[in-house]
Amino acid sequence: MPHATDNRPTALLAMGPGIAGRLLADRHRTRLATLTRTDPHLVAHDLADPTPEVAAALADAEVLFTCWGATPLTAEVLAAAPRLRAVVHAAGSVKHHITDACWERGIAVTSAAGANALPVAEFTLATILFAGKRILHSADRYRALRTDHDWLAELDGCGNYRRTVGIVGASRIGRRVIELLRPFDLDVLLYDPYVDGPEATRLGVRLTPLDELCASSSVVSVHAPQLPETHHMIGAAQLSAMATGTTLINTARGSLIDEEALLPELTTGRLHAVLDVTEPELPPAHSPLYDLPNVLLTPHVAGSLGDELHRMADQALDEMERFAAGLPFADPVRAGALPRSA
Ligand SMILES: NC(=O)c1ccc[n+]([C@@H]2O[C@H](COP(=O)([O-])OP(=O)(O)OC[C@H]3O[C@@H](n4cnc5c(N)ncnc54)[C@H](O)[C@@H]3O)[C@@H](O)[C@H]2O)c1
Repeated sequence: MPHATDNRPTALLAMGPGIAGRLLADRHRTRLATLTRTDPHLVAHDLADPTPEVAAALADAEVLFTCWGATPLTAEVLAAAPRLRAVVHAAGSVKHHITDACWERGIAVTSAAGANALPVAEFTLATILFAGKRILHSADRYRALRTDHDWLAELDGCGNYRRTVGIVGASRIGRRVIELLRPFDLDVLLYDPYVDGPEATRLGVRLTPLDELCASSSVVSVHAPQLPETHHMIGAAQLSAMATGTTLINTARGSLIDEEALLPELTTGRLHAVLDVTEPELPPAHSPLYDLPNVLLTPHVAGSLGDELHRMADQALDEMERFAAGLPFADPVRAGALPRSA
């Protein structure tokens, strides 16, 4: 129980229904209750139309601990939170719930985008290496043939030795993919208008214009954020520049790829694809993407799931600990960076 000298900050959990139980293990709730004055079992699902208990907690809260599905922090919600000074987001992008009103109020924001980048990068590494070995294709053909076959001949020209991988976007995820690719015998190209030559050298990649990257890579992996300028950045011209047999990986957002231009390239079998995200996010039931043998379609699962949510909670609680100690966040979200961030 708080007492007169308890100067720990007051906190409130705010996220969509069904999230807190997966995000927080007992140890996280214990740590939260140790670092802050909070009820670690009270979760605000709707800050815009709060229950009396949530309204009281919001009125007292100095910091919100948020995750997916948190209510947008509009001026109206903020008016009901006069003591609020910070938001610790235990997930990636804050664009859904952090509004201009938050920045105008000077609220400090941090997110666990760094922790959420790791599983996406791991998924990407796995699919890059699988693409080089044509795993989807050979597993499919083996299942169909069930007989002796000249696999060396069939898979001639495949492999992961001295191939070129093109990374689109040196985002947190893109950078982590570049780092994970280092031990392999692969050349890595990068397209990113915000990276200069010296930085590319530090990253160990060759900075390359987008069309040239598409033309020169066996695998093109897209990691840029969804922004007006990245809409359909992989369009007909980039797709037709890709050599036959190129694999396109998209774990970023569906809108970055012109799917209308991509579909014919996939149905003819000229290109291969790994699509964790699509536009729309759930392709219609008749979409060929579900059935094409050269497409691996996954339901937006590259990011944190299962135990990986605990990593985001751990990172968020590290930031909560800094806040409680009066320190600035280690990984603050800056309003000025948002126009080019996820
Ligand atoms: N599939 C999933 O489960 C999943 C999970 C998390 C993130 N994502 C997506 O992954 C992508 C990367 O996320 P992040 O958090 O690493 O992004 P981020 O916020 O770190 O990306 C920002 C960086 O992207 C680069 N960039 C900006 N505009 C660009 C452009 N026009 N062309 C190329 N590069 C550009 C710049 O280097 C910029 O600093 C986003 O699209 C995000 O939505 C997907």
